[in-house]
Amino acid sequence: MKAIIPAAGLATRFLPATKAQPKAMLPVLNKPAIQYVVEEALAAEADEVVVVGNAQTQAIAAHFSPDEALVAQLEGRGKTNYADEVRRVGSLPVSFAEQPEPLGLGHAIHCAAAKVLGDAGDAEAEPFYVLLSDVLVPDNALLPRMLASSRAHGGASVIAVIRVPREQVNRFGVIAGEPVEGGIWRITGMVEKPSVEQAPSDLAIFGRYLLTPRVMELLSRVAPGAGGEIQLTDALIELLAYEEVYALIVDPDEGFDVGTVEDWLSTNLRLAERAAPSGAAG
Ligand code: G1P
Repeated sequence: MKAIIPAAGLATRFLPATKAQPKAMLPVLNKPAIQYVVEEALAAEADEVVVVGNAQTQAIAAHFSPDEALVAQLEGRGKTNYADEVRRVGSLPVSFAEQPEPLGLGHAIHCAAAKVLGDAGDAEAEPFYVLLSDVLVPDNALLPRMLASSRAHGGASVIAVIRVPREQVNRFGVIAGEPVEGGIWRITGMVEKPSVEQAPSDLAIFGRYLLTPRVMELLSRVAPGAGGEIQLTDALIELLAYEEVYALIVDPDEGFDVGTVEDWLSTNLRLAERAAPSGAAG
């Protein structure tokens, strides 16, 4: 199974920190945000992660490439733990696809189509994950639950959703649907960036998707939507005409937002508290 991580965004909210480095490379404790997301996918049966980047995101490729000189230097200084970690990160199964123009999330995902569908073509291809690196799930427990839900429903697509205050719905894709069992809904509709009045529920799409290959075909012909961008949500709305799609409600304590400077900072603090031995300060 493959996973796609789109990483070609402009990251205006983090400027000037993101002038010369991609947002996904900003550290959360001692790891770049994207490394958490790559490891989350690999912990959930993904055998390859395709990062969709552009000319400005080459630091991501460098991070996931071998660096024998650094490994040798660290080993020469007896820092074997660091050498092992550098070697491990450089050997993770991460590959790259290019998004030449910033035409939207749906367009970014479609840029990885050839890698995800492979030679099998649409009909034979496996489902794939999409992970947005604006949110971290360091316990790595969400994708396995999505995979189990998909398998329980005949291999259907499953989208993670989270309850948000009504006044925030316009920042997200929002689903309509009906509950089918604990924490799982069958989706009947979706709206990207609705107004409070238009929003069909308070369940917002959260940035973790398990999708059937048909989504790639739908993405190739979806028209620009909200914000003039090619939206993944619009392809998923079309998917509803062919297949059942489910939503899995995320536990609010499970996700750690890094999409704004304030959230990135508080995620660093929350994860530092979790990492510190109890009672230890700093
Ligand atoms: C994207 C999706 C949206 C989803 C959101 C989650 O929007 O289009 O449906 O709710 O991610 O973070 P973006 O944040 O790229 O505007």
